[in-house]
Amino acid sequence: MVESWVNYAERIGSDLHLELSAPGSRRAALGKALRDAIRSGRLAPGTRLPPYRSLAADLGVARNTVADAYAELVAEGWLTARQGSGTRVAERALPLHPAVTAQASAPRPRARAPRHDRSARHDLRQGTPDASAFPRSAWLASYRRALHQAPNEAFGPGDPAGRPELRAALAAYLARARGVRTEPNRIVICSGFAHALRLLFGGGSRGVTGNVDRAGNRGGGGQVLRGPLAVEAYGLPFQRELLAAEGVRTVPLPLDEHGARVDRLARERAVLLTPAHQFPTGGPLHAERRAAVVDWARARGAVVLEDDYDGEFRYDRKPVGALQSLDPERVILIGSVSKSLSPAVRLGWMVLPERYVGDVLAAKGDREAWASVLDQLALADLIVSGSYDRHVRRMRQHYRSRRDRLVAALAERAPHIEVSGVAAGLHAVLRLPPGTEPSAVEAAVRQGVALDGLAEFRHPETDMPSDDGLVVGYATPPEHAYGAALEALCGALTPGGTRES
Ligand SMILES: Cc1ncc(COP(=O)(O)O)c(C=O)c1O
Repeated sequence: MVESWVNYAERIGSDLHLELSAPGSRRAALGKALRDAIRSGRLAPGTRLPPYRSLAADLGVARNTVADAYAELVAEGWLTARQGSGTRVAERALPLHPAVTAQASAPRPRARAPRHDRSARHDLRQGTPDASAFPRSAWLASYRRALHQAPNEAFGPGDPAGRPELRAALAAYLARARGVRTEPNRIVICSGFAHALRLLFGGGSRGVTGNVDRAGNRGGGGQVLRGPLAVEAYGLPFQRELLAAEGVRTVPLPLDEHGARVDRLARERAVLLTPAHQFPTGGPLHAERRAAVVDWARARGAVVLEDDYDGEFRYDRKPVGALQSLDPERVILIGSVSKSLSPAVRLGWMVLPERYVGDVLAAKGDREAWASVLDQLALADLIVSGSYDRHVRRMRQHYRSRRDRLVAALAERAPHIEVSGVAAGLHAVLRLPPGTEPSAVEAAVRQGVALDGLAEFRHPETDMPSDDGLVVGYATPPEHAYGAALEALCGALTPGGTRES
């Protein structure tokens, strides 16, 4: 299983998220999924579809099934096929909007989660992609093209919504790769997930930090969302602290093998979830809970914040599509390039229900003060030129192999340790016998390994039973250093290396 999808995906190609859930044959289901995607505007006119073999591999169907479905849609006028330019969505298959529009003085946050031993020889802290794999040449080429092509007005003050080129590129990319239903004017560019939280919850009204930009200017708007905010019982401490600094109370939802217990949602006005890959414990949110949380939001007039931090990185199957597609009016999807490219780029996006767009723009102020317009243009070029897809697909292969090596090394050297969660993302959680986490972290430090225990991520107010585990960022070290880091980690985990405290 782990082999097939990613190996095929390694080939140059592009991602296309489709759910083949319609009854009947696979060809009929694929035809319906493609028509729905075109009709809803998720696949814009002119969009190039993946080659037969690539889509067949991604969907786990026969190549002929895809070829037949494409041929049928060409005959119906949804698609065009031309020698040399592949199969594209027909220009006259106009995107319709209904799929989107018819649905209806707190402490300052710490800069990072606490780290163990900054001088450690082996860095297995989660949170960073392999920095040595940043696509320098592709980024440089995109930057160069973007600078050449940018109109003069691009060098003036930036539009707080973000560059239209980037919003259009993201709308098409997110629809294609993550199943998101949106349009460019519902996307607001920001500098990353943390900035999005500040924009949504930062309130000028209570005299807390508000939306103050790098230059110290306050954004013009009030608070877009109010607490209390339900969060997963395990999550990034930095995010909780940031919210606390904004005066937002967070209420922990327990987790079980199906993800967050959304049945525990009560009077909160919003919930923050990591549905594709729970951070950090690693499971996806169960399909029934995905539906249930949207029902809750509809019934309560509440909103779901979807943190899609590593949604593209799934190794055992194609990624689960974004929760946002279940109800674009009830879910705010937030993403960034921090995992896919680098956290140094500081670019992210918010895909918003229509009613929040004005308030978020007001919160940003009159001009773009965070996200460099030139970087935005470069990212737009990277996406439109296909380089972003190529990089993501290459990194999927790279990180999958890192994870496989971790699993294999543990199976051989520390077979009592279970790697939990699905094969996805840039980190894994190693489950430990109860009570052994502190000594395991200490043993790792003695071996020169920097990593975090699960306890670092636990909400202080949760009453769910605590789990012992290590959060291993297998993407972090450069390739040449990974083998030695694994060796040191296994050295810390060999039987007898950890003890109950
Ligand atoms: C759970 C989670 N959410 C979001 C992010 C992205 O944060 P940002 O976009 O602010 O870098 C990260 C880190 O990359 C993360 O681990």
